Amino acid sequence: MLIPALKISVEKLSSSYYRALFKLLEPPRIEPKPLQFINIWIPGLDEAPMSISDYNAEDYTLSIIFKVVGDGTRGLRDRNGFFGVKGFLGNGIDTSGYDRVLFVAGGSGIAPLPFLSRKCVESGCIVDVVWGVRRGDMLFNIGKHAVGLGEVYYTTEDCTIGYCGNASSLVREIVERSGFKWSLVIGVGPSQMLREVCYASRGLQDSYVSLETMVKCGLGACGSCLLKPLPKLLCLDGPVFKCSEVYHILG
Ligand SMILES: Cc1cc2nc3c(=O)[nH]c(=O)nc-3n(C[C@H](O)[C@H](O)[C@H](O)COP(=O)(O)OP(=O)(O)OC[C@H]3O[C@@H](n4cnc5c(N)ncnc54)[C@H](O)[C@@H]3O)c2cc1C
Ligand code: FES
Repeated sequence: MLIPALKISVEKLSSSYYRALFKLLEPPRIEPKPLQFINIWIPGLDEAPMSISDYNAEDYTLSIIFKVVGDGTRGLRDRNGFFGVKGFLGNGIDTSGYDRVLFVAGGSGIAPLPFLSRKCVESGCIVDVVWGVRRGDMLFNIGKHAVGLGEVYYTTEDCTIGYCGNASSLVREIVERSGFKWSLVIGVGPSQMLREVCYASRGLQDSYVSLETMVKCGLGACGSCLLKPLPKLLCLDGPVFKCSEVYHILG
């Protein structure tokens, strides 16, 4: 389950985000799906849950996009050599059968987009993106890392780039202006944003949100990711849930 991985590179994408590329040194038993995550073991430190940002099944390279918040993520940025990848964890999303997808991200919620859009291209859909951050200097050009995107909107709360406001108010405006044209909606970010994404896509069967909570073992054994009051574990039952399942615990 713990696959040894060699860090190939780390790249600074903006004032806040980094992208690290790893080569898995053993073939994983199954291929991941978009929105699944890994627990990455940083030698001498801890494990950190990270969304799979991109994955290449031919050479077993895997990338993550992350923000440095503490020792673990600092280790991901600064250390070189060998790491460990536990995964692939949780449930992902199968994009087949959808034609147009709306992906709404807040902050580091943008991380799973490259793998999602790659799978979407393979299954014949395109992804429109709304990405909101607090400050303009946190943004980077997501089109450089993700293929097959449709419309891409950036929103900043300091109003320096793109739409002035947050991702959910822009989604509301887009829906009011041009109607609802997506067969699948996915939100990844803060709980309040997820609630508004679910509200904007009410009536749509396939609207999903990816939740975040403390994840430790990633295997359903420790109980630290229990989504109270639901009898669900994020690491086994999530991180992706239908809006209808979790709407009442969001926000
Ligand atoms: C399923 C899942 C996928 C994730 N994907 C990404 C990703 O793609 N990119 C990314 O940048 N981050 C992601 N995160 C969050 C990331 O795991 C945490 O930021 C990281 O573990 C912090 O580790 P640290 O040792 O650097 O900080 P710590 O020293 O452990 O913590 C620093 C601060 O971050 C908070 N924190 C720690 N872990 C979490 C957590 N799991 N959720 C929320 N707050 C936390 C702590 O409360 C503390 O305030 C994901 C989390 C989950 C559960
Ligand atoms: S992280 Fe241990 S049960 Fe989910």
